[in-house]
Amino acid sequence: MQHSLMNRLAELAAITDTPGALTRLFLSPAHKRAIELITGWMQDAGLETEIDAIGNLVGRSPNAAGKPRLLLGSHIDTVRDAGAYDGNFGVLAAITAVKSMEALPYAIEIIAFGDEEGSRFPQTLSGSRAVTGNFDMNALSSADSTGATMGDALRAFGGDPDSIPKIARNPAEILAYVELHIEQGPVLEAKNLPVGIVTAINGASRLAVTLTGAAGHAGTVPMAMRRDALAAAAEQILFIETYGKSIPNLVATVGSLAIHPGAPNSIPGRATYSIDIRAPEDSARREAVATISARLEEIAATRNIEIAITQTHNAPATTCASWLQDQLADAIAAQNLPVCHLPSGAGHDAMAIAALCPVAMLFTRCKGGISHTPAESITAEDANIAVAVLTRFLRSFKMPETP
Ligand code: GLV
Ligand code: MN
Ligand code: MN
Repeated sequence: MQHSLMNRLAELAAITDTPGALTRLFLSPAHKRAIELITGWMQDAGLETEIDAIGNLVGRSPNAAGKPRLLLGSHIDTVRDAGAYDGNFGVLAAITAVKSMEALPYAIEIIAFGDEEGSRFPQTLSGSRAVTGNFDMNALSSADSTGATMGDALRAFGGDPDSIPKIARNPAEILAYVELHIEQGPVLEAKNLPVGIVTAINGASRLAVTLTGAAGHAGTVPMAMRRDALAAAAEQILFIETYGKSIPNLVATVGSLAIHPGAPNSIPGRATYSIDIRAPEDSARREAVATISARLEEIAATRNIEIAITQTHNAPATTCASWLQDQLADAIAAQNLPVCHLPSGAGHDAMAIAALCPVAMLFTRCKGGISHTPAESITAEDANIAVAVLTRFLRSFKMPETP
């Protein structure tokens, strides 16, 4: 079993938009090819498949209509130059568990979400938000770095922007959502444990900053007469780093930066960059957004640079349901493994799905705690244990007694 799961993960990792590295962006040709491959695996596991209006691939138990449904899944989009396991592991592990499962008293839906990373358009969690009815239709007019809008890309993909509201699930029909994911951090490895139960997921905000100064000749414009957008960005980015370091448990990252015109002999007239801020406490994150934004405005004003700051993502911290954590703990203990609980610093589709139903996550150890790089690595043994835990969980799953 474990070998076929690892083989499938390797086969899926070969599907990329950029040969030589794994980059599989939302609504790209590689996303389409990945859906085709996974569709075959879902059907092989006895599931009926469909691609929904926003480009999620859904595999459903046959005759699911009218039955309560348990949702499983994760995402199949990736960051640029990604590892093979982030997101993809959760989808293929769920398919592996369901394939060997006898009939259950509830229906299962495995969803391969199309946009968790937000690597192509400014928004993130588009697929999972659509399933909850919380997709912001304004996102359809946002553009990627080539100027293509999400709405046009979705239509070209075969999706149907107008039908997105119709894929919202009815909360009355959904029991829970359970996501398997690699840990993306070092805790399980340090404790020498293959799996752990997530207690809560840190909240996250993303901002897009555009600075406009004046482009000019690098040889002729005196230093005192410049309005250099990149120099302003550099000062701001150092402030963001210093602020992030000063607040316990908060992290702040500038992960992408573009300058225009981008030539050695031209003064940068425009700079755009992203800010990603995360914290377990929503109040600390909100305070960070306000404080950082205010200081960026000040720096821009001092340098006579125009600044526009847009918030592109805002997801509150999410608590995993304690009764689901308990049932995962029982499944882990039944494997004769110690039960470990840990928080998630990374974002996940479960954050969006929490608006629909109780959510839980099972983390799998990854080598060196490394993720979002090609060096991401898990062992077949750990993958096998995670599938076994999920299998036990699904067999014993029961809703909590209502008081
Ligand atoms: C997704 O990996 C995120 O945490 O941004
Ligand atoms: Mn990721
Ligand atoms: Mn992920």
